[in-house]
Amino acid sequence: MPTQSDQPTKPIRLGVLISGSGRTLMNLHALISAGELPVRVAVVIASRHCKGEELAREAGLAVEVVPYRKAADVHQYSQRITALLDGASVDLVVMAGFLSLWHIPPPYEGRVINIHPALLPSFGGRGMYGHVVHEAVLAAGCKVSGCTVHFVTNEYDRGPIIVQRTAPVLEGDTPDSLAARVFQEELLAMPEAIRLFAQGRLRIEGQVVHVR
Ligand code: GRF
Repeated sequence: MPTQSDQPTKPIRLGVLISGSGRTLMNLHALISAGELPVRVAVVIASRHCKGEELAREAGLAVEVVPYRKAADVHQYSQRITALLDGASVDLVVMAGFLSLWHIPPPYEGRVINIHPALLPSFGGRGMYGHVVHEAVLAAGCKVSGCTVHFVTNEYDRGPIIVQRTAPVLEGDTPDSLAARVFQEELLAMPEAIRLFAQGRLRIEGQVVHVR
């Protein structure tokens, strides 16, 4: 996997992929608007009509909806996504609650990140998203959970880890209460990872991300 080049001062262009409520996207938008995150959202791609799409439009962001069912197969679907990202000259792709499959083409390797609501490599993989993750954490009796921002490879939830933040599991937690506590950490972890990428401080070596 290639490593990113040093571009500490250039404001990088994000492509944000969403499928749902858009909380992660809107958190980024708020930070960018407040001047706290030196990047810009070049394009938002939604895999379906969703709350996140509405919020992005209201915020004045460029939004494209690319429903999976309209594509012949995953390859055609992936080509459409890639074409939109190329068209917006995207430097970094952020998967922010994106539930469709995009086969990452070689030019984007090392330039796609995802946030997962657990401490990978535990509680990840196909089908592990949303409440299923928090239910599994509670069923396993974990005393701590958290979130992981990682580079995306074409293997589910297995890419090199950039940032992890923890949240305690408390007695009496439900999947909802745990998800809410973990999400508070997600609001910090994703911007932190983007900032590190934008500052050119990440170097991928095999499965390990070194932070300078
Ligand atoms: C979070 O659980 C995140 O970990 C996962 O998607 C959820 C956020 O979705 N990847 P959204 O930003 O509210 O759409």
